[in-house]
Amino acid sequence: MSRKLVAGNWKMNGGAAANAALVNGLLAGIGQPRCDVVVCPPAVYLHQVRGLCGENAVLQLGAQDVSVAEGGAHTGDVAASMLAEFGVRYCIVGHSERRRYQHESDLTVAHKAERALAAGITPIVCVGETLEERQHGLTEFTVRRQLDAVIQINHGRLAGMVVAYEPVWAIGTGESATPEQAQQVHAALRARLKAVDTDAAGVRILYGGSMNADNAAALLAQADIDGGLIGGAALKAAEFLQIVAAAG
Ligand code: 13P
Repeated sequence: MSRKLVAGNWKMNGGAAANAALVNGLLAGIGQPRCDVVVCPPAVYLHQVRGLCGENAVLQLGAQDVSVAEGGAHTGDVAASMLAEFGVRYCIVGHSERRRYQHESDLTVAHKAERALAAGITPIVCVGETLEERQHGLTEFTVRRQLDAVIQINHGRLAGMVVAYEPVWAIGTGESATPEQAQQVHAALRARLKAVDTDAAGVRILYGGSMNADNAAALLAQADIDGGLIGGAALKAAEFLQIVAAAG
């Protein structure tokens, strides 16, 4: 079984003082975790967080997004090569909030994953159905469509990525998927990856959506749940550390 991965997606939260308190709290309590731990602050704070982590490599840096372009005239964007040069190791791509508010298509997300992989950054590719899609029995259809776009563009390089299953209805709602619901989708995602590339069978598939200190252990005990992508609970050092401990 692969080493689990717990990533904190801070979203558009934080500020210099809050970031310092959070990272110092994490460093004080984290010890030697038995899983990989990533923090994804807003881009403007990557520099601060890198400084706070210092030589401590236990917390790895992640970005929340990356440009679909390689460089040049793309005002407001940050290139994968820039993130890599800075020391960013992971990058969330295709989060449902970006698909919704920035209208990112499956194809755009697939090309963002391609940029990250080309720069040596591990993309954390998010997939997930809306409540309406679930109610219409379209859960596996939706995540398969989202995953297939990424597969098509990144064939042969899939082993270098991470997938995150984040049901949209579970994000920020306090209503997590049950371990059984999540496992069913994770198993389908794994089967698809394995079918197209045997090397991709071991891709880590994270669960995200109202994961917290109380439900993490049951979710992480599922056969195909290889970690978590944590939103709200990643902003509280003690709670995030409990999730990290549950993944050990
Ligand atoms: P919450 O943990 O706040 O539900 O957010 C999950 C998420 O969107 C992580 O990317």
